[in-house]
Amino acid sequence: MVISLTNQKGGVGKTTTALNLGAALHAAGKKVLLIDNDPQGNLTAALGFTPAEQKRTLANLVLAAIDYPEDLPVHLQRAVLLTECGMDLIAANKRLADAAARLQVMQLSQYNAAGEANRSSEEVMNTVLEPLKGQYDYIIIDCGLKHELLTVNALSASDYCIIPVQSHFLASEGIPDVLEMVRAVQQKFNSRLQIAGILLTMYQSRPQLCRSVRESVGAVYGDDFHVFERPIEYSIKVAECPAAGKSIFDYAPSNAAADSYRSLAQEVLRLA
Ligand SMILES: Nc1ncnc2c1ncn2[C@@H]1O[C@H](COP(=O)(O)OP(=O)(O)OP(=O)(O)O)[C@@H](O)[C@H]1O
Ligand SMILES: [Mg+2]
Repeated sequence: MVISLTNQKGGVGKTTTALNLGAALHAAGKKVLLIDNDPQGNLTAALGFTPAEQKRTLANLVLAAIDYPEDLPVHLQRAVLLTECGMDLIAANKRLADAAARLQVMQLSQYNAAGEANRSSEEVMNTVLEPLKGQYDYIIIDCGLKHELLTVNALSASDYCIIPVQSHFLASEGIPDVLEMVRAVQQKFNSRLQIAGILLTMYQSRPQLCRSVRESVGAVYGDDFHVFERPIEYSIKVAECPAAGKSIFDYAPSNAAADSYRSLAQEVLRLA
């Protein structure tokens, strides 16, 4: 199962959720591959790697899939890193922005070159992931903000997407943009893509603001989309995790946010 974390709004907990959902699924005995699909390399860094030092990243795989598809298996073998958390990782750094630019050129040219019609710039990541799907129970893709084509590629390769939303004033304003992109991908590239749910993050049970965001997200979207049962609690321990290169389960296993990520994983395990 391939799951993308998507929201074009920044700082809503996409990377944190990719890592901790992955770790919770790993703890449940599942084989998990994390993919850093953001040139910022935050997921790569949060797992203890220095993005700029990584020589084999998602960028290599995207470029190989475009230019040397026959070499892709060799590149894949080299690009998969083993993390201390026990999950596998395909890292990212700034070079992913170059790969995104290459995809953009491909997108512009594909409308002129009939012969390239079967090499769609929106489905390159699917080509990259295809050989990996049989090796993992879950492949989790952390999307960035800037390069829309990278996110479209992730959604084209996914079975499900999860939309993290910060439990904060106006934070749910980003949801319509995500829904529009998901619909476009469903229609053009990937009819099996489904929205697993909207996930409220950085939730504080006492502030009235969080409660009202939770209620309004439920009221506006609850009829059409699943809203995950338990919001992810706000905790400074979660924010400290990336510097330690650990998941919340290794850093502070009894923290409430660890319980909420376990609850999310239970819901994900029930997805068909
Ligand atoms: N439950 C939480 N409690 C406290 N801090 C959190 C929580 N979840 C995320 N954070 C912190 O909020 C910040 C943003 O989170 P994160 O990087 O996961 O968001 P993002 O959506 O991936 O951001 P970007 O759009 O930049 O990729 C980070 O500093 C992270 O440590
Ligand atoms: Mg991020």
